[in-house]
Amino acid sequence: MSNIVLIGMMGCGKSTIGQLLAETLHLDFVDTDTLIEEEQGLTIPEIFAQYGEDYFRNYEVAVANKLSQREGLVIACGGGLPLRDDAIAPLKETGKILFLNRDCNEIYDSVSMAGRPLGQGGRRAFLERFAQREPIYRNCAHYEIAGVSTVEDAMKEILEVLA
Ligand code: S3P
Repeated sequence: MSNIVLIGMMGCGKSTIGQLLAETLHLDFVDTDTLIEEEQGLTIPEIFAQYGEDYFRNYEVAVANKLSQREGLVIACGGGLPLRDDAIAPLKETGKILFLNRDCNEIYDSVSMAGRPLGQGGRRAFLERFAQREPIYRNCAHYEIAGVSTVEDAMKEILEVLA
């Protein structure tokens, strides 16, 4: 069973939807941020503050390589993981990549940016970051899931594309 890999902007619902999807399909759930935090014994903001973004991105590459050797997982990726081709490519080889494309104004209005070092620059910076990333997300995804305003809609669309 190939993995199901969720990508998209921070706060789009990868972890919430991923957990539910894993339960529904009887698969194991892994969140790359949580894995990194557990392995490092530090929170994401602490890792960024102490070691910097490059260190974190290299760690994401290592985690992606490790997870791509496993099967039957639902994997919620940190929002910036697909920026590195050497992180997303191994996951794409052994999994179906789903881009959860939730409206970014809606994300910004409803999701806390606390604990998200790259979400600290205000709405405009958040929207600009998304504009830079959207083609990257789209380019590496097998499927784009557009109806992600509610978890129920997202689940329905995901289960349809996977069927
Ligand atoms: C990041 C997203 C975060 C986390 C880190 C960087 C990003 O994950 O990996 O703060 O660059 O978009 P979430 O997408 O789970 O918030």
